[in-house]
Amino acid sequence: MFLDALACQPTPRPPIWMMRQSGRYMPEYRAIREKYHFLDMIQVPELACEITHQPIDAYGMDAAILFSDILVTASAMGSDLDYIEGKGPVISNPVRSVADVRQLWTQDIPARLHYVTDAIKLLKNSLDIPLIGFAGAPFTVASYMVEGGSSSTLKTVKSWRYNDPEGVKLLLDALTDVTIDYMLAQVEAGVDALQLFDTWANHLAWDDFSEFSMVYMDRIIQAIRAKSDVPIIVFCKNSSLLYPQIANSKPDAISFDWNGQLGDIRQQLDKSIAMQGNLDPFGLYGTDKMIVSQTTKLLEAMAGHPGYIFNLGHGILPDMKPEKIKLVVDTVHAFKQTAHSAV
Ligand code: CP3
Repeated sequence: MFLDALACQPTPRPPIWMMRQSGRYMPEYRAIREKYHFLDMIQVPELACEITHQPIDAYGMDAAILFSDILVTASAMGSDLDYIEGKGPVISNPVRSVADVRQLWTQDIPARLHYVTDAIKLLKNSLDIPLIGFAGAPFTVASYMVEGGSSSTLKTVKSWRYNDPEGVKLLLDALTDVTIDYMLAQVEAGVDALQLFDTWANHLAWDDFSEFSMVYMDRIIQAIRAKSDVPIIVFCKNSSLLYPQIANSKPDAISFDWNGQLGDIRQQLDKSIAMQGNLDPFGLYGTDKMIVSQTTKLLEAMAGHPGYIFNLGHGILPDMKPEKIKLVVDTVHAFKQTAHSAV
């Protein structure tokens, strides 16, 4: 059903999965997290495989997303990456100059990230639903490599962009080559779909999104297209505004943040591009009644439009209640797309 929706074929109801569907909100995840460092959890294929299965077994999503992180590419290139409790990702050797970019490793990326492809192979033997592989988009991964971790303003990378745009582009170029090799290795290992995460695209002005992000995502999309039929989804924060630029690259689907009205965007967007999203994740802190009504409203707005995948506008947060996740999944599963609701 998920792959049909990605191909814009009609489905009896929309398929559903959620960004960050594996994570700390799940007691089963926390039980493993107590025993292991996050890096072990993504680097030991048996653990990554087990964690990928957890939300599927608990709530019945229609697609699995590989348990990993977008910063594995940075780590393979030489970023000294750690995840610190309460702080998130930290990189102790940030990239701040052209000389730093020239030190980065760009060769043999699939070999350096063999733990990811090993996990994919295990998952392909054990899952009976499609598996989504993913990578961070060059701009978002670059922002972590330059800032040295999470940042609310991206001041360092944006300052670099306005002082030495060609220097930043060297980094984006290197990341693009690495991401193509990495995603093609995931395809070869057996993923059924790919998602590119450009989470921090919302920090870029309209023209900068084109010049510092979309050009590189386009190169990735075209390179994968040239070698495989695996569908590609592009997610950005601010895709509700940026989608016309994303659509020019003809990804199979665009994943929307919660700002846009999906029914309205459907009227504007090329019909061959599927849509994914876009429930406000903060709605999951609401009452059951509110969750059912918000979920149903979105389902109705998209009813009758083939090529729709239910998701959140961004990821599940660690303090959300598992029952609320299940309620959204159950509500989507119970929804029947009738001729009545078709628009
Ligand atoms: O969606 C999934 O279930 C698959 C796994 C996944 C993770 N990260 C697991 C993770 C995916 C697809 C990501 C992508 C990712 N990682 C993005 C893009 C999507 C997004 O959410 O915006 C970004 C920006 C990152 C970088 C990153 N990794 C951050 C900011 C953090 C800290 C977040 C936090 O809650 O502490 C991580 C660590 C991380 N990645 C965790 C998980 C489950 C939490 C690790 C822990 O257990 O402490």
